[in-house]
Order: sequence, then C-alpha cells, then structure tokens
Amino acid sequence: MINTIPDTKKKFNVEDVRKDFPILKRLVNGKPLVYLDNAATSQKPQAVIAALNQYYTFDNANIHRGLYFLSELATDQYETARLKVKEFINALSASEIIFVRGATEAINLVASTLCRAKFFNSGDEVIITHMEHHANIVPWQLITDRKQIKLKVIPINDAGEVDLDAYQSLITEKTKLVSVLHISNTLGTINPVKKIIEIAHSKGIPVLVDGAQSVPHLKVDVQELDADFYVFSGHKVFGPTGVGVLYGKTEFLEMMPPYQGGGSMIRTVTFEKTTFDDLPGKFEAGTPNIAGAIGLGAAIDYMNQFDRNELTDYENTLLIYATEKLLGVEGLKIIGNAKDKASVISFVIDGIHPYDIGTIIDTDGIAIRTGHHCTQPIMDRFKIPATSRASFSFYNTKEEIDKLVMGLIKVKKMFA
Ligand code: ALA
Repeated sequence: MINTIPDTKKKFNVEDVRKDFPILKRLVNGKPLVYLDNAATSQKPQAVIAALNQYYTFDNANIHRGLYFLSELATDQYETARLKVKEFINALSASEIIFVRGATEAINLVASTLCRAKFFNSGDEVIITHMEHHANIVPWQLITDRKQIKLKVIPINDAGEVDLDAYQSLITEKTKLVSVLHISNTLGTINPVKKIIEIAHSKGIPVLVDGAQSVPHLKVDVQELDADFYVFSGHKVFGPTGVGVLYGKTEFLEMMPPYQGGGSMIRTVTFEKTTFDDLPGKFEAGTPNIAGAIGLGAAIDYMNQFDRNELTDYENTLLIYATEKLLGVEGLKIIGNAKDKASVISFVIDGIHPYDIGTIIDTDGIAIRTGHHCTQPIMDRFKIPATSRASFSFYNTKEEIDKLVMGLIKVKKMFA
C-alpha cells in the first residue's frame, strides 16, 4: 500500500500557510478579505486547485470502465484518494470508505438503507442531541414516516454541553441507534463522542458520528473512537464541494442494501435479478465525483504536511484570543461556552439583529455567517432567533480577529 503521509512535518507558520490559499489575497469591497466562515466552508489551498486543474486538463476519463491509459490513470487517482481518506481517519480498510456528496448525503444513506435493511422495527428509538445540525435530524424524521421510529433528544445545558446522565436515562431496550455530532457548527462544543460511543456500545447500540465540523479541526481516528459510522464533507476540510465520506464498519455496510441503483454498483444484471458489487462499489452508483475525490486527496496531502496537533493548538490560541476580545464588546454575549470547544464562536449583541451585523461588516470585507446555522432547535433552546458566527481556521490571524472586533464596534456605533 502507498504511504501518503510524509515522514517529516513542515513547521506551521501562519504567514507561510496563508500564501498557500490564493483567495486570501483578494479584496472584498476594496478591503482585504477577512474570511471567518470556515464552519460553512473552508478555503482551498493552491495544491487542491492544481489537482482539479490537472485532472480536468490532462487526466479526465471515466473510472472503473475503460482499459485504456486515461481511464486507468483516473481510476488509480480516484482509488488512491480513497486510500488517503482511509489513512486520514485510520479506517481498518479502504472498502469501508464510501465517497458520497457530503455529510448530509452520508447520513441520508445510512438512515435510508438501515431502514430498508429492516434494521428498525416500529417503536424503535434513535437518540440524537439537542445541538444537531438539521442534517442529523431530518433524515431520521424522513424514515420515521415509513417506520414509526421515535427520535429522542439528549438535552444540553446553558453552556451548550450534552447532559450525559440524561443520555443514559434516554437509552431503553428500544434504542436502535445513537447519532451525534462530534463538534457543533453553531456552539463549537466538542462532544465527548468516545464516551457517548462507550455508553451506547455497553448496551449493544451502534453509533453514527457526524464529523463535518471535527475533521477540519481535530485528528480523527475512527478505530480509536470505535465509531460504527463516521461522516464528513470534503469542502469543510479544504477540499472541493460535492464530495464527502461515509465511513462504516464492514459488518454494517455489508448488511445495508445499496442506496441507489445504476451503473458500476452491480456485478450482474438481468431483467429478473441484479447482484451487487462488493464494498465500496455497492454504494457508488453512476459516475462519481472523480475530480472531487482527487481534490479531497490533495487536501489530505496538504494537511498531512503538518503536525495536526500544531494546527489544533494554533486554532485554540485564536479561540482564546477571539473569546476575550469579543467579550470586551459591550452587550455581546457568546452562545456556547462549553469547556471543550473548537474555534467556532456564536454571539448575539443586545438590540442588533445578526443580519445587520453581517451585512455591515461585509462592507469591510469581513465574512461571518448569520442566521440559525441549520440548527433551529439550538435557537429555540437559547430563545434567540439567530446568532452571528465567526469560525476560524489555521490560516486566520489575531489581526483578523481585531478587524472583526473593530467592525462590531462600528456596528454598535451605527445603532447607538
Ligand atoms: N453546516 C454549515 C454551517 O454551519 C453550512 O455553516
């Protein structure tokens, strides 16, 4: 097997890293871009852009179908990307890595195919948390239409942390699956997923982890976590949009029927009966996002240059700095104050709607997300309509945080 991880790591230096991301040089409204919406999507290093360019310029062909040079080259690059993902999250086997459109599709795939595998009986329960993204709520509701499955919700405290005692008391003999996010896109909370998995496994219940926000911030090891399913999106982890990953333990993926039917996922087809390909092909019907997978592989190579812990530590210094500076803005309240937090800060300012904040600071080239962040139940929990959210990556700087704070002070003056 190929070894895609370099032996020596590049020393992290934010100014050097910023040079790798061409978009960070652009102006917005005549000002240097201050991109603080990394929880929505990350920016792409030149290496990823170059990989996409190389594929479409020189290497484009369909995969798993041709015996000619370009098809074999494209197939090799696509399957190499799968191996890179396998190593990146330390899966046991590359056949446990399914390329999908993103975390959302991965969760829909699991919900739908577990349902079709008759994994659930009417009255069975799926446990989620109160801080889930809609992508880990709605797919379960869609299958409850078909199966009368009950969704049970682990409450969160005022700091935005899950209540583990309440979690344990929610588990019954009807609990069939626990599906939780690793890091909250709105609150920044890092959930104790290892503990959540241990508790579920002690009762024989499998666990799906939505890692859309964790993979960009933390080194993830699915075997160490013992997650049964782990999902993430390529575009949040410096790769292209339209590609993502479903990791599943072989025993589950084998038991689940295909999600979609079509070319490539079959072994034999007659009008009477079709037999399906082995993993992972069974779940990859039709021509996949070949360029996307290759681009994601390039993003993984990019991250592998660094010691991931060094990136996490740097993001943590940004989180601490931004928290302190933002709390210095009069009337600003942070929503989500978990002890264990990633570099995501949601906040509200007395008397000023987040949409006004977002629109005004945009005039200074500062990009943050405003709204409910696809987590309306969190808004209900904290009795607010929306928040402003700044989410930082390892290419952000303290100077950018200062600009955000200056922007907020300007907004406050306008509303004074
Ligand atoms: N889930 C993404 C976000 O939090 C889009 O912004």
